[in-house]
Amino acid sequence: MTRQQFLQQSAMAGAAVLLSSLEGFALSRDNKKIKVAVIGCGSVSGSYLPHLSASSFVEIVSVCDIIPERAVARAREFNVAHYYPHIDQMLAGVPFDMMITLTDMQEHGRLNRQALEAGKHVWSEKPLANTYKEGRALVDFAQSKKLRIWGAPAVVNSPQFAFMSKAIREGKLGRVSSAHAHYGHTGPTWSSFFYEELGGSLPDLGVYNLATLTGLLGPAKSVMAMTTIVTPERKIDNKGTIQVRAEDNSQVIMEHAGGVLSNVQCGFNFFDPHGHQGKSEENQTIQIWGTHGNMALAGYDWAPHGVDMVTHDHEAPQRFVPDPGDYVWQQGASVISESLVTGTEPLIAVEHALHVLEIIEAARKSGKTGRKINLKSSFKFPVV
Ligand SMILES: NC(=O)c1ccc[n+]([C@@H]2O[C@H](COP(=O)([O-])OP(=O)(O)OC[C@H]3O[C@@H](n4cnc5c(N)ncnc54)[C@H](O)[C@@H]3O)[C@@H](O)[C@H]2O)c1
Repeated sequence: MTRQQFLQQSAMAGAAVLLSSLEGFALSRDNKKIKVAVIGCGSVSGSYLPHLSASSFVEIVSVCDIIPERAVARAREFNVAHYYPHIDQMLAGVPFDMMITLTDMQEHGRLNRQALEAGKHVWSEKPLANTYKEGRALVDFAQSKKLRIWGAPAVVNSPQFAFMSKAIREGKLGRVSSAHAHYGHTGPTWSSFFYEELGGSLPDLGVYNLATLTGLLGPAKSVMAMTTIVTPERKIDNKGTIQVRAEDNSQVIMEHAGGVLSNVQCGFNFFDPHGHQGKSEENQTIQIWGTHGNMALAGYDWAPHGVDMVTHDHEAPQRFVPDPGDYVWQQGASVISESLVTGTEPLIAVEHALHVLEIIEAARKSGKTGRKINLKSSFKFPVV
């Protein structure tokens, strides 16, 4: 058995154990709604809360923010009965099943652990922890407590992702050799954590493309990268000028099985006329080449508009899957809630999120040392 086969079999065995625990969870429930508590009532909560409120599988029971007035405002806006200024009070307060973590990135690992210790499932915005080691320990701890933890992004849920994955597996592109992905904007102004140690463009932006490319091409075996800071000082709305400590410009090359190479470029210095809300971006942002054809995703992987393909047999470009259906990037926590209620395993897999976290760490290490970094993690592949 090769190392790769071993890792994939272990990941599959892990998934089987987890699936059975999900079925057990679903069967034991009388109430067919997951009670969720949201921690972090900043920018992204404005996209999550409307989506969660509309889900028939979710009941939002509490919200929390260390800036208490933000929790109060979100509670009023979304008719949530309980709000708290601290995680300790939220965990000791009205009971719930799953915590949804939407705080500063640097806080995720610590808060997610605290929720697991209190017997809660977790959906975490990216990254689910600050290091691969911390993330691995969280997942193992969750498993030991028969709990589940998942991490954003939800890009594998889009119908465009499914189309691209199937096209590759059906050999439409021949032998796949190379891929490129990019994502960027000119950077948030509302919080400094994006630019502080363990923030940066890789876990905030590159994470989407890394999840998409590994999801389409398989786990990466090794990584080389360069990471830089292009804008050393930033103006933050509530803080004035700050020094940028985390990379705001990154290029990452990944080696997948069979000699396939892919690269991701991401950064906080990318002008896009559509800005941070890049939803209406129509340009292609993911390209995949093979010996028989190539295809590209129109729009970003978190807001796709279609897949353009040309092949040896059909040289005129064709657009497929122009409609994202009910896929939206902020759906992760509601999709997971549905899985918990119905006992079905979602496409989003925590082993995939951990693999992407290992790539991010490896990219930073490669950027610092100039070396190629070998990876040890894997996940169940193909995803779909
Ligand atoms: N803003 C977006 O459009 C967007 C989109 C996708 C993902 N994300 C991700 O969502 C997360 C949050 O980003 P944001 O833009 O909403 O940031 P934000 O600064 O607007 O909001 C974060 C909130 O968390 C609160 N917080 C920080 N530490 C806390 C703690 N220990 N306990 C309770 N509350 C705490 C802050 O007070 C703040 O209100 C990040 O991981 C980011 O990468 C953001």
